[in-house]
Amino acid sequence: MSDSILSFSSEKKGIVTSKTTSMDISSDMVSLRPTRFKDYIGQTDTVETLKIAIAAAKIRNEPLEHILLHGPPGLGKTTVSHIIANEMEKEMTVTSGPTLEKGGDLIGILTNLGEGDILFIDEIHRIPKVVEEFLYPAMEDFAVDFIFDKGIHARSHRYRLKQFVLVGATTRVGLLSSPLRDRFGIFRTLDFYTVEELTVIVNRSAKLLKTRISERGALELSRRSRGTPRIANRLLKRVRDYSLVKSDGRISRESVRAALDLEGIDTLGLTSLDRNYLKTIIDFYSGGPVGIEAIAATLQEETDTLVDVVEPFLLKIGLVLRTSSGRKASEKAYQHLGLKS
Ligand code: ADE
Repeated sequence: MSDSILSFSSEKKGIVTSKTTSMDISSDMVSLRPTRFKDYIGQTDTVETLKIAIAAAKIRNEPLEHILLHGPPGLGKTTVSHIIANEMEKEMTVTSGPTLEKGGDLIGILTNLGEGDILFIDEIHRIPKVVEEFLYPAMEDFAVDFIFDKGIHARSHRYRLKQFVLVGATTRVGLLSSPLRDRFGIFRTLDFYTVEELTVIVNRSAKLLKTRISERGALELSRRSRGTPRIANRLLKRVRDYSLVKSDGRISRESVRAALDLEGIDTLGLTSLDRNYLKTIIDFYSGGPVGIEAIAATLQEETDTLVDVVEPFLLKIGLVLRTSSGRKASEKAYQHLGLKS
């Protein structure tokens, strides 16, 4: 194989977002993300499945099977993947479906992976079809097929890859083709965290940020974090600033309430986009049922944002209902917004 054929560069225009070893992660002192399963809170069944798979792979001295992680944004798909890499003591290369435009983009990455290394592809449902075709033999046979020339001169060469582990993350598993989905040995859906789990996470994060927080402050913050650690950690930083400037730096229930009211986060953790989504269904479409495209057009928002970011939590807490004829606002949604149904 000549070097020129292998000169597909993954360094090009940010296709590889990051390449990390466990050292890189653990040396980041203020990272709130856990780097090992022992520090990871919640998703107990998923964590147990992964721990068993990792332990078995270590006993057999084999790489893990490919892993597909599904769930709304902010629940820890990337974090879990980093932890897997750390627990396996392997490197992880991070990329995402939309940045892989051509087959060569993926080949450049694949040919640089070491034995057992992790390739994390975020938003894997957005990988172009031409790139996906290269993934099949890569995942199944650890090989990529190069085609040289065209027509009657076409020749192919099979290039062997190291046995890597693909961790795919998606908010929309339904958009994955079945041949791709079927090539993952482990498939787990991450669910929203309970308030109790978020409270533990908030207390852990506050400690890492060297910030004092009252029990009731941590509870209030957790209640308003949409079941999502990423949101809890982001809001914790806002509340921490607020408490430092407006009081003695200690986070109390009162400072959480005041800071989050200022952020437009309500008692259920809803943002202005969440509330506008519900108000659109109620005010413009008499409470529904209404199609998602109509809601998106009225709100002038991307349909994907509504489906991936807004709806999962509203469905989870029962403010919106999905019926065969469209979305409906629930009685609870009217009550929460102080409207008459
Ligand atoms: N920070 C973000 N997600 C976390 C989790 N699941 N456990 C502990 N800390 C976290």
